[in-house]
Formats: sequence, structure tokens, C-alpha cells
Amino acid sequence: MKKRVLVVSSANIDFVQNIERVPYSGETIVDYNATYNYVPGGKGANSAIAFARFGADCVFVCKVGADSNGARLKSLYKAEGIDTRFMIEDRENPTGLASILVEKGGKNRIMVFPGANANMKAEDLEDPFTCYPDAVYLQLEIADEAVIEACRLAAERDIPVFVDAAPARFDFPLASLGKVEIFSPNESECRVFTGIAPTNEDSALRAAIRLRKMVDAKYIVIKMGDKGAFMFDGKEYFVYPSENVIPVDTTAAGDVFTAVMTYSYMQNGNIHSAIRMANVAAAISVTRAGASTSIPTLAEVLEYRDAKKKAEAEAEAAGDTENGEADSEAETL
Ligand code: RIB
Repeated sequence: MKKRVLVVSSANIDFVQNIERVPYSGETIVDYNATYNYVPGGKGANSAIAFARFGADCVFVCKVGADSNGARLKSLYKAEGIDTRFMIEDRENPTGLASILVEKGGKNRIMVFPGANANMKAEDLEDPFTCYPDAVYLQLEIADEAVIEACRLAAERDIPVFVDAAPARFDFPLASLGKVEIFSPNESECRVFTGIAPTNEDSALRAAIRLRKMVDAKYIVIKMGDKGAFMFDGKEYFVYPSENVIPVDTTAAGDVFTAVMTYSYMQNGNIHSAIRMANVAAAISVTRAGASTSIPTLAEVLEYRDAKKKAEAEAEAAGDTENGEADSEAETL
């Protein structure tokens, strides 16, 4: 059944340069093989598009400038089937802009000029909650007061809250989020909040235990890039290996992961299959360039899963036990 997700988050235009390597401080590089592009992005918008492409009824609240970038973004969201009736046009600030440098191998560095995103107000959220969402989905790329108010309004109505903890700021008041269903930072965000870099199972567990003292979350899910995902439910922890792909651009992989995990979990309450599904969606997204341009559909994820199952069955039949063992993972996706 289609569930309604209220995404309260950010929208940006990404100025993306694909380059050989990033410059050192004080260095100028003229990269004659570089390419650049203006791509719709923003952590909130990327997630909203992922929700829509996975079949959710997605209502997106964001603030954009009264400029051509804002208009371009709005028409893209509409074309994706996203409900934009609560999108706000800010007459004082331009649409957010992210400068993204993507190195060979897919790793990126992102600098965000927040623009209208930083001007989202607590009072902007009363109306959007009239859409009766099944869940509220948040990131930390808009004004703190809007994030905190969305949590308050959700708690008042008993609506579950999902938080993709990006981007992280050590002084963000995590306790004011209240009750959260899933709280999901990546490795660097985890380090900012806890002071612990989750580089292996041991450090990830220590970080997750510390995070659970800071946030009242049912599940902590740490995105660990090519090391996969780590989940702690307060009693046990689980590790979910990443899919084996060749990365082109990792931009938006985290946004895709958390949105897909959230929507899958909303549908059947199974956190394990939700994380496996999210791993596949994120893996597909890193094989493609750009933010919104890299987000797969549900059909593409299912197609990937079926092809993987088939390859594993063939390998097993041919006596390749290593691949055969991986079959049980794919089965539960
Ligand atoms: O997570 C990727 C996103 O971060 C980019 O699209 C950029 O806009 C920044 O918000």
C-alpha cells in the first residue's frame, strides 16, 4: 500500500565539477579533462525523489528562492510526481547552491551555500502537517528551528520520525529531536556527533552506543560507504555488506540509502530487508553521475536483485561455493 511521507528538508542546485583530483590549499589546477554541470540536488530533494521513485506518496516541504533555479527545481519535483503544494518561495534569499568536486573514483567534497534553506521557519510547518502523513522524514540541511518544530508536530500527532543525520554539526541539539524511529549518520557525521570514527565493527558499536545516549532512537544505522551499513537496536548489532560496484560518483548515495531504507521499513517494519534494499539502491546510485540524476527506481533495484540471484544460482550450480554462500543475503532483500 502507498504510504505518505512528509519530507521536510533542503533543495539545492549543484554546481558539479568532475576532476582528476582536488587542489591542495593554495594550489591552482587547470584540469583540461574536467567536465562541469548544474544538477538538481540538495539532500532533501534527493531523498524526496528517491521516495517518489520507490512508489511513495511524497509530500515535500522546502524553501527555494524566487529565481530561475527555484522554478527549475519545482517543475522537476512535479514531473517526479512529488506533491509540491507546501513548497515555499523565499523572496529574501536565493535557492541553495552546492559546489561539488568529484574526483576520479567517485569521492566528493561538498560546500553548501544554504540560501533559502536556512530561512525555513517553525511557522512554515503548521500547514504541511494537515496532509496527514504516515511518517516524517528529516535531514539537518535546513534551519534547526524547522527540524525541531517538525519533530514536535510529529510527536503531537504520534507520527514516526526518521532522521538522516546529514550534514552533521557537533552543536546540533540532538536531544530536541525527541523520539526517532531510525537515526542514520554516515561515518564522518558519526564522528562529528560522537568523537568516534566508526572504521570497523568495534568502533561502530562504540559510536552507536554513544549516539543512542544522545538520541532517543529505536535504530541507529551508520552508513559506512564501501564497508556497507551497521545497525544497532540497543541490544544487538548487525553488519550489512555493501554491493560490489565500481563507483563513478558517490554524491547522494547517502540520501538514497536513507530514503529507501525508510520507505521499505515503513511498508513492512523489517529493518533488515530495508537496509539490504537501501544498500542496493545506494550501490546503483554511485555508478551514475550527479545527485538527482543518479537515483534508481524500485524497478531498477528489483532488476538488479533478480540478476544477482540468477548469477549466484548459476555460480552455485557450477560449484562456486563462495558466491553460493552469498545467496541467502540476496534472498532476504
Ligand atoms: O548529499 C548530496 C547533496 O548534498 C548534494 O546534492 C548537495 O546539494 C548537498 O546538499
